Amino acid sequence: MSQLSVNHLLGIKYLNEADIQLIFETADHFKEVINRPIKKVPSLRDITIANLFFENSTRTKLSFELAEKRLSADVINFSAAQSSVKKGETLIDTVNNILSMKVDMVVMRHPNPGAGVFLSRHIGASIVNAGDGAHEHPTQALLDSYSIRERLGDVAGKNVVIVGDILHSRVALSNIFALKLQGANIKVCGPKTLIPKHIESLGVTVETDLRKALEWCDVANMLRVQNERMDISYFPSTREYTQQFGVNKNMLDTLDKEIVIMHPGPINRGVEITSDVADSKQAIILNQVENGVAVRMAVIYLLASKIKS
Ligand code: CP
Repeated sequence: MSQLSVNHLLGIKYLNEADIQLIFETADHFKEVINRPIKKVPSLRDITIANLFFENSTRTKLSFELAEKRLSADVINFSAAQSSVKKGETLIDTVNNILSMKVDMVVMRHPNPGAGVFLSRHIGASIVNAGDGAHEHPTQALLDSYSIRERLGDVAGKNVVIVGDILHSRVALSNIFALKLQGANIKVCGPKTLIPKHIESLGVTVETDLRKALEWCDVANMLRVQNERMDISYFPSTREYTQQFGVNKNMLDTLDKEIVIMHPGPINRGVEITSDVADSKQAIILNQVENGVAVRMAVIYLLASKIKS
């Protein structure tokens, strides 16, 4: 059986193109499984997984838990807000205490960039990064590319624009790495203040005119403005941001093609996209969420098979 080139999923930057294709082919199988009347396989009955969330999450946390349960793994959940982290316990002590309960794999979301890499150097379990600060969110990028492949047949050669707060976005960085590996063309679009200075060195181009970006693309991935990661104002007002970088239905209807609209969630309706866009047939936002379970099943299954081998 083919194997991943890595023992942890810490970021897309550690993967190669063959890893991504292996994850997608495995996810195709699991997508078929989760659409059966009995949505469960016994593959990981001997594996215990800890989901450690030091930062809020709805989609990623539920999606990982469902993926793990559908593979029949034993699952324990930890939220920092209700834990002894509040009493001053360190990350390493927290994780080592959890691992002493014989845990094989750790899925972790943490506000600090590089938290997963740090952990992988100190503990024996397989680590899956579920989002580390403004650094990477690898399973989000995998499910995004998987959803483009599902809707458009392939990712290679497609024009993808990532719109919004690129500066604070782990979704943007992981998407750029994943899309590049698969041969897509990428633009980023947003206020100049929310685009990192040397982003072109990653092989993307910058477009500050949203209309031009939409005319160029096959897919627009709309990102939320991450106010929680901002300590200064990056644009004059939300109203002005929406006027320049928000997508509405009228805009889409005046393009000469039907582009695909994506959003990783959570959506700020009426800011980056209007409700009539978010709920339109051009939007694949809920398909992304559905595919997230199959893609995460694939990632966990493939990493667990390396633990067993
Ligand atoms: N897309 C995403 O990471 O959403 P959550 O923050 O709800 O997990």
